[in-house]
Amino acid sequence: MSAEVLHGLSLPVKSIPPKYFYDEAGSKLFDIITGLPGYYLTRTETAILRDNSTAIARRMDARACLVEYGSGSSVKSRLMLDACRPAAYVPVDISRDHLERSAKAIFDDYPALSVYPTCADYAMPFALPPPVAALPRLAFFPGSSIGNFEPDDASTFLRGVAEVVGEGGWLVLGVDTRKDREVLDRAYTDAGGVTEQFNRNLLLNINKTVGADFDAEGFRHLAVYNEEAGRIEMYLVSKRDQRVTVAGTEVDFAEGEALHTENSYKYDPEEFVARAEDSGFDCVDVLQDDRGYFMVLLLQAQIST
Ligand code: AVJ
Repeated sequence: MSAEVLHGLSLPVKSIPPKYFYDEAGSKLFDIITGLPGYYLTRTETAILRDNSTAIARRMDARACLVEYGSGSSVKSRLMLDACRPAAYVPVDISRDHLERSAKAIFDDYPALSVYPTCADYAMPFALPPPVAALPRLAFFPGSSIGNFEPDDASTFLRGVAEVVGEGGWLVLGVDTRKDREVLDRAYTDAGGVTEQFNRNLLLNINKTVGADFDAEGFRHLAVYNEEAGRIEMYLVSKRDQRVTVAGTEVDFAEGEALHTENSYKYDPEEFVARAEDSGFDCVDVLQDDRGYFMVLLLQAQIST
């Protein structure tokens, strides 16, 4: 952990990976973000899933194992569970307490469902619990968190999911679309400062887990849309010259220097479908809202001939 963080802080543009947002406090802040008026992603995706849940379920295998990547505390999981009625549910999340609390709630509400919470960083290979080995698989990766990967890493990730679900297995994937800058700006900077708090919380999490003395108040939130790359870039900008000690190493920030905390890639539908079809999946359907603000893809792992 400290090696990864120190490496990021040694780069020409200092950088810390976005997975460090999601400790207990960060997962809660993210839940608040999903309800903010400008954060269209969660609301739009939930409506797409709700409007299409029977159409989605019709294609999926009965009695499958639903593997959810980055489950958080999701309402969307319940939509999928209600529509697809899987035999087993494997929520995978990096935040252990959050994972256990939401798994318990699902457990209470779906007594017939076998729930196997799995605490893991889904960007790395992880093992499915042995009892689900024989079940057909349906992966669910909502929220456009795939946008945190560099595009080529997203392809690598997709190939890994194709392995997990096996030939003919499914992936229901949420992806944010390219759109007007104004809409994106409003989604990634809110007047109430919740996104700023979420962004700064990454420093507090580093203080706690890696051992550092970041003054979170000494940095301000910045989100910019890089239209050419098709991504929101998030930074924490140092308000003054300051020295921070991280895992015993001194790191200097100049006034105005930006620490990169997240990329959130947006894709045009054709662009993403081409990538998925190049990464082990056939695209069976692209579901969108009327404004085209978000897409849910129904992907089936290619059968090698
Ligand atoms: C959880 C990665 C999908 O990129 O929109 C929200 C994280 N960052 N506000 C996103 C996030 C700032 C979110 N994802």
